[in-house]
Amino acid sequence: MHTILLTGAAGYIASHTWLALLAAGYQVIGVDDFSNSSPEVLKRLHALAGQEPRFVQASVCDAAAMHELFSSQRIDAVVHFAAFKAVGESTQQPLAYYANNIGGLITVCQAMQAHGVKRLVFSSSATVYGKPERLPITESSALSATNPYGQTKLMGETILRDLGASDPAWQTACLRYFNPVGAHESGLIGEDPRGTPNNLMPYVAQVAVGKRERLQVFGQDYDTPDGTGVRDYIHVLDLADGHVAALAWLLNGTDSITVNLGTGQGYSVLELAKAYEQASGKPIPYQVVARRPGDIDACYADPSEAEAKLGWRAKRDLAGMCADSWRWQSMNPNGFQ
Ligand code: WQD
Repeated sequence: MHTILLTGAAGYIASHTWLALLAAGYQVIGVDDFSNSSPEVLKRLHALAGQEPRFVQASVCDAAAMHELFSSQRIDAVVHFAAFKAVGESTQQPLAYYANNIGGLITVCQAMQAHGVKRLVFSSSATVYGKPERLPITESSALSATNPYGQTKLMGETILRDLGASDPAWQTACLRYFNPVGAHESGLIGEDPRGTPNNLMPYVAQVAVGKRERLQVFGQDYDTPDGTGVRDYIHVLDLADGHVAALAWLLNGTDSITVNLGTGQGYSVLELAKAYEQASGKPIPYQVVARRPGDIDACYADPSEAEAKLGWRAKRDLAGMCADSWRWQSMNPNGFQ
């Protein structure tokens, strides 16, 4: 029975992955400093998993705490989620993003190396593709970061590639997430952004539940069918399954891998808002405003590499993403407070 350490374990994608790993028969240890998550998540995981989650409160930037973790527990592999992830915030606070996202990754890898643990799944992002030259995006598409957050993901992948080149015992899986949305079907865990949501679906969810008056659509003059931005939204449960598949790849093989985790289907802002109205039965009033700086017209994945190598494919559709998001939002109008 392998034991997997999840960093950023109380976060949105990590908490859903935690449940999927337990269901797949793994032992799981979570570590989080709650800098961008809530301890309430652990209570919800206890209820959902029917067992007390094994958890350590610590920062991935705390080398002593990371070494203590690896010396006190048997760990077979790590899934590294812990990172700040707001594009706009990263342009305001680049040092905080480099210190946390790169410093944290290096600290975790140093502790792993010191204790002979050399299998790592890394949360990367489609943001490493910058403005894609052609669609759909494949893993060999050009890479370019247009903001410090994206740079930390690109640098993280480079660090892991160099690590693997220096020591073939290292096996890494870089998972490039497209746009994670939705929630566990129980409605007990989900996305709980602090302050005003940066991302589309959590903002739409707050309009539906009456916390926000209307959606601001950032531009309707993009080169897309209805002029609004097109993105590849992927259900967080499909994303969690992608991590289970990536861990099986690492534990059963010897190679490293980099794959897109997307559905291959793009939807526009207005298509998502309409789908949310249908799923929630609530109106989503909106107002078209100026473009958000840095936004691109369209972005969606070619997910065939993950299917070929990992035997993984997203199964859930936009209606399901909206229905599960709405159940979480309506059951928890104030998130995990
Ligand atoms: C989606 C679409 C907006 C909010 C970002 C990060 C990426 C990843 C996912 C971490 C765009 C439009 C949005 C709103 C709107 N995060 N929009 N009104 O920008 O594709 O990706 O989140 O890994 O790295 O870049 O996602 O949800 O912010 O925007 O019109 O209030 O919705 O213009 O077209 P994005 P998003």
